[in-house]
Amino acid sequence: MHKTRLSPNGPAISALALGAASLGSVYSDVSQDNADATVHTALELGVNFIDVAPYYGLTKAETALGHALSGIARDRYVLATKIGRYGDKDWDFSRDATLRSLDASLARLGCGHIDVLQCHDIEMGDYRQLVEEAIPTLHDLKRQGVIGFVGITGYDLPLLERVAVEHNVDTVMAYCTYTLQDQRLAPVARRLQAHGISVFNASPLGMGLLTRRGPPDWHPGHASVHAAAAEAARLCEAAGTDISRLALQFALQGAIQNGMATTVIGSSSPANMRDNIAALSQPIDQALLAQVEAILAPVRDKGWDVLPGNGGKAGK
Ligand SMILES: NC(=O)c1ccc[n+]([C@@H]2O[C@H](COP(=O)([O-])OP(=O)(O)OC[C@H]3O[C@@H](n4cnc5c(N)ncnc54)[C@H](OP(=O)(O)O)[C@@H]3O)[C@@H](O)[C@H]2O)c1
Repeated sequence: MHKTRLSPNGPAISALALGAASLGSVYSDVSQDNADATVHTALELGVNFIDVAPYYGLTKAETALGHALSGIARDRYVLATKIGRYGDKDWDFSRDATLRSLDASLARLGCGHIDVLQCHDIEMGDYRQLVEEAIPTLHDLKRQGVIGFVGITGYDLPLLERVAVEHNVDTVMAYCTYTLQDQRLAPVARRLQAHGISVFNASPLGMGLLTRRGPPDWHPGHASVHAAAAEAARLCEAAGTDISRLALQFALQGAIQNGMATTVIGSSSPANMRDNIAALSQPIDQALLAQVEAILAPVRDKGWDVLPGNGGKAGK
């Protein structure tokens, strides 16, 4: 698989990464057997970067991932997790909570070292605590060699860009903002890369939006976006393919062209993960892509309002 570099002096990481939120049963119930098989399939087929967080399934995803990774040599994967978000509306970017969270993540994941530790959904928590406590604590942990890189994640691109540059972070994870439907991350990623900051493109399927099954009921996108995506999915199905394949190919190609370090897809299915990896070496169907882009054009780059304290859910 195509590899890029995590930070200018960091390890090589796969251009497609596994997002382990799904393993916390955030989309559907996932057994430990399925979680194990998904992780093992991804690693065997060349994925070496995995992202998770304490928030996903309220620690279930980290526990399931730790089980799946037990017995696997630590140098076979690069691991990212997060601090700061502990519930739908529960943020704590204090120094004490950050240190406690890291210890708990290490125990659940069964390893002694986190490669990338990220402040989770920075637009939703307390800004002063973020910049005066959480980020400085992560820089301390990096200096001590406890973590490899300091990261931030979220949805609000202007805020992510400003905090990343002003507070000298190594990585930025943005989600649902480089997909078939929304490409606002592209210019931001190019600017961040010029600062030596690695960008992770999370949720290339728009958190299930660009799948045959469609988005989960908690999806914050606007009804017009859901309707256009459903129409595009039906068109792909009629053409004998699944929109998720086209969506992943599009996101991955664009991510590489715009200098993003990796694209983080979530899956709790070994079969889907196998399809996702296979899609990377198949040519994109340009005629179908043009038809899908035409359907999505009226809702292109239409995101949702971020309401602080509203758990990342949509506004009006
Ligand atoms: N704020 C943040 O830091 C943040 C926010 C969002 C995401 N992320 C990261 O990005 C990762 C990916 O995001 P995500 O999981 O929310 O969204 P996503 O990758 O856009 O979509 C995941 C959904 O797509 C489905 N899927 C995957 N491959 C498929 C295929 N080949 N065919 C049909 N359906 C397929 C999955 O179902 P199956 O399980 O059935 O395959 C799952 O329901 C997360 O796990 C997390 O690591 C971070």
